[in-house]
Amino acid sequence: MQEDISRKLESKLDAKIFSKSRKKTLPDGFKKGKVVNEVLDKPTVMTLYKLITDHILSYVNGPVSAGKESVLFWAVDEKQVNVALKIYLVSTSNFKKREPYILGDPRFSRLKKGTKNLVYLWAKKEFRNLSQCYDCGIPVPRPIYVTNNVLVMDFVGDNGVPARLLLESEIDENDYLQSISIIKDLYKLAKLVHGDYSEYNIFKTKNGLVLFDLGSAVDLRHPNAQEFLKRDINNITRFFSKRGIDVNDPEEILEEIIS
Ligand SMILES: Nc1ncnc2c1ncn2[C@@H]1O[C@H](COP(=O)(O)OP(=O)(O)O)[C@@H](O)[C@H]1O
Ligand SMILES: [Mg+2]
Repeated sequence: MQEDISRKLESKLDAKIFSKSRKKTLPDGFKKGKVVNEVLDKPTVMTLYKLITDHILSYVNGPVSAGKESVLFWAVDEKQVNVALKIYLVSTSNFKKREPYILGDPRFSRLKKGTKNLVYLWAKKEFRNLSQCYDCGIPVPRPIYVTNNVLVMDFVGDNGVPARLLLESEIDENDYLQSISIIKDLYKLAKLVHGDYSEYNIFKTKNGLVLFDLGSAVDLRHPNAQEFLKRDINNITRFFSKRGIDVNDPEEILEEIIS
């Protein structure tokens, strides 16, 4: 039954991708000829197509930012609200690098072999991490849905343009204080350590800082959780200090958080 649906979907998709029609845009919102490109492999296109037929999305506008291991797309839901799709690339991913952040996490101990599987698990992990934070009131993009290698969340920014990163913003002492209080809330409330906490993974919005890119965040029971925490505190301290903000001793911050 499941296979049947999937085969039907595939042939429907093929028909759409390779249709002889002269229309530039397909009914599912993809530009003709741009579907099969370097970024999206066929299983990913099928996943996006399924998100549309399942009414999670209305259409996909296009890529907003491309990294080595993921691409961020701007899409729109049926209420015309902007959403962000974080698409983990299956083909080019260097998942060796990610292993240390997933293997020790008791929430994800049952790990099957195979890269694709690990990519899917990574997307699920980021979704779980976002949900844990969101439920505790930590400012993160609201997670909406995850399937295969595609994570759907609130779009932070306007008209397909992401909000400014902390890196690109004018900053003051309040930002410093908030960035430390987010690390603390992550630890105390969400029971997580980010693992890649930096000026590159924090937006500065008019409503304050918003933390994102939570794929590497680990459970406190992870054997390296404390080491990751220490690194997170050091990184953000270095950033604010370089920008001329009065910062506290990172060792003291660490002590205060874990005590
Ligand atoms: N929820 C979001 N809304 C808007 N833009 C986003 C969102 N999440 C990520 N982005 C954009 O995509 C870029 C990469 O996202 P990130 O999660 O940091 O991926 P990577 O793992 O490649 O670092 C960010 O710098 C930001 O510009
Ligand atoms: Mg990032």
